[in-house]
Amino acid sequence: MSDPNPMEALARLEAEALTAISDASDPAALERIRVAFLGRADGRISAILRGLGRLAAEDRPAVGQEANRVKAVVTEALESRAAALAGPRSSARLDLTLPARDPWKGGRHPITQAVDEIWQIFRDLGFTRARGPEADTEWYNFEALNTPLDHPAADEQDTLYLVDSVLLRSHTSPVQMRTMEKHEPPIRIIAPGWVYRRDTYDATHTPAFMQIEGLVIDEDVTFVDFKATLAEFARRYWGPGTTTRFRPSFFPFTEPSAEVDVKRVITRPDGTREETDWLEIMGAGMVDPAVIANAGYDPERYTGWAFGMGPARIAKLKHGVDDLRTFFENDVRFLAQFAP
Ligand code: PHE
Repeated sequence: MSDPNPMEALARLEAEALTAISDASDPAALERIRVAFLGRADGRISAILRGLGRLAAEDRPAVGQEANRVKAVVTEALESRAAALAGPRSSARLDLTLPARDPWKGGRHPITQAVDEIWQIFRDLGFTRARGPEADTEWYNFEALNTPLDHPAADEQDTLYLVDSVLLRSHTSPVQMRTMEKHEPPIRIIAPGWVYRRDTYDATHTPAFMQIEGLVIDEDVTFVDFKATLAEFARRYWGPGTTTRFRPSFFPFTEPSAEVDVKRVITRPDGTREETDWLEIMGAGMVDPAVIANAGYDPERYTGWAFGMGPARIAKLKHGVDDLRTFFENDVRFLAQFAP
């Protein structure tokens, strides 16, 4: 390098290189500029760096630093110009013949679908929809429902307490009392909602699950109304051939109490008909007179019936899902199958 003043030479080289880079119109031109200024063998900036040893010792650090700065600036300018030149080329490569991606389709969760279908049937039968809080008191969850706190059904083992006497409701039955307090008979309600129990999370249990409460209170309501309404519901939900079975059971807030099972008739693809196993769909019964009295109604005048149904189990059977947890993992590949 014969330039008498390397600092001036560097300033000139920087300006020259940057002009050339911004004028370059293709990658080959950029490569020629790179070789001319930064090439190992003949690059003009490289030559200054290589010539440092021939400079006076006191000039070396400043010239070396400046040469490295110019080298960095030129390298960056080369890269950004290369990127700018590549931009239009890559969009020219856009393949417009690729099929477009489907837009996202939202859908109701399969359990919500079951709740809505069940609710629609009861709505057609003259019921209205009610709701209550998910955090409720011992009174509404147990005592108002004729369940003393020392009864096994009120066992703390199964119940998730929040503070003192406030807990996450373990069933939707507290909505019975909350509705009766606010309204006079006749009452015909359906109350779907989340309930909570200290259950282990496995294929057939989840600590939070959906229930649907049903309650009817009126004069002259008998067990016949109860059976006939549930049988009609089952036929509308599962088809005309569906039969219903009432097995004796116990709940502190109904007397008599029953577990209700349904048996469906399914038609195979080859046309043959087959009866399914009995499927338990709910706990139910005639509302205990003590509950009717707790609501402030005259139990001599009013009677009624109630049920608590599990829509997740109903959806599980309907769709042949063998593990309840699948409903809660929210894997879009699973849920997308239920989108309309
Ligand atoms: N609450 C009861 C349960 O969760 C079900 C039920 C509701 C039974 C209404 C009778 C009447 O198991």
